[in-house]
Amino acid sequence: MIALKTIFAQIENSMSEKEFIPASYTTLKEEGTVAYSSPSNIALVKYWGKRENQIPANPSISFTLAACTTKTSVQYKKKDKKSDEFSFDLLFEGEPKEEFKPKINTFLKRIEAYLPFLKEYHFVINTSNSFPHSSGIASSASGMSALALCFMEMERSFSESISDEDFNRKVSFLSRLGSGSACRSIEGPLVQWGETASIEGSSNLFGIKYPYAVHEVFSNFHDTILLVDKGEKQVSSTVGHELMHGHPFATQRFDQAHSNLEKLKSVLSKGDLKTFISIVESEALTLHAMMMTSNPYFILMKPNTLSIINEIWKFRQESNTHVCFTLDAGANVHVLYPEYEKDIVFPFIKEKLVPFCQNGQYICDRIGLGAKKL
Ligand code: PMV
Repeated sequence: MIALKTIFAQIENSMSEKEFIPASYTTLKEEGTVAYSSPSNIALVKYWGKRENQIPANPSISFTLAACTTKTSVQYKKKDKKSDEFSFDLLFEGEPKEEFKPKINTFLKRIEAYLPFLKEYHFVINTSNSFPHSSGIASSASGMSALALCFMEMERSFSESISDEDFNRKVSFLSRLGSGSACRSIEGPLVQWGETASIEGSSNLFGIKYPYAVHEVFSNFHDTILLVDKGEKQVSSTVGHELMHGHPFATQRFDQAHSNLEKLKSVLSKGDLKTFISIVESEALTLHAMMMTSNPYFILMKPNTLSIINEIWKFRQESNTHVCFTLDAGANVHVLYPEYEKDIVFPFIKEKLVPFCQNGQYICDRIGLGAKKL
């Protein structure tokens, strides 16, 4: 029964994946340049576990960020002779970066069926991040979405006309094939990804702008990112997702994500910060609990991550504020709080939390509205 259900779901997905294959192009330009800036995002309900073709094992939702962004430009020129290889130069912060090329090559392979012009061109891809290199902040969401946006901008210029809605949906679809969470970076302030009964229009193939009411307490929400550990992660997200196959708590975890998304609906519309905090913090700790209970098990938090969490809990109780934390797949802590409490919370962060950061480094970010054409 379950096997049949999975097969039907796969057929359904592959049928709608075909929608993203373009019928034809009006013209293929000889050369040009396109450029985009695309942000990172921070999940409130976490995506952890996937099936083939980057199909998420559970639905997720994130705040789009504003300050942590990747800027990418793509210069394209028709090849003299068509070849069966992808052809590109890659510059990161102005310098050639050979080690990033295999990842881009894999991405190009995955998206080629949906952008059939890719092998007609030689590209010069020039990319840079607004956040410090090797800060431990994952750049895959902003990086992959910025690149997908550039390629889609090319497609737009080769085609009759694409509505903004179709454009965003296809960029999100393509970004997902680069890095799952990248599909949540195109729009803002809140993006949901992964089919779930409580959200109309939700899809496993792309992220959608959260379609329901969001209380004004969430506008301009702050995310101060504390850089606790900037080292290479011992276990990549790819491996972590993989370890959810056969994980003893997988089913319960995936059910919990659906239920948390449903609960968030009234939390977001009413501005119920108390319940918001309990869902968001539980999601962060559950993500790390999944890591600690997989086989092999691993821990990405550091002692300072725990010290920060304890300080936040203590301060929240004493100050009666609504500051809370969430975590990515790493040791850094995202400190979330509403705009109207910033004058109380930010001094606390500077005094009590920043001393736990590596070299005292942190990034002041806040909720953002998505990618921008440059
Ligand atoms: O997009 P990936 O494959 O790097 O996975 C990201 C997973 C988390 O950041 C831990 C959670 C999420 O939903 O963003």
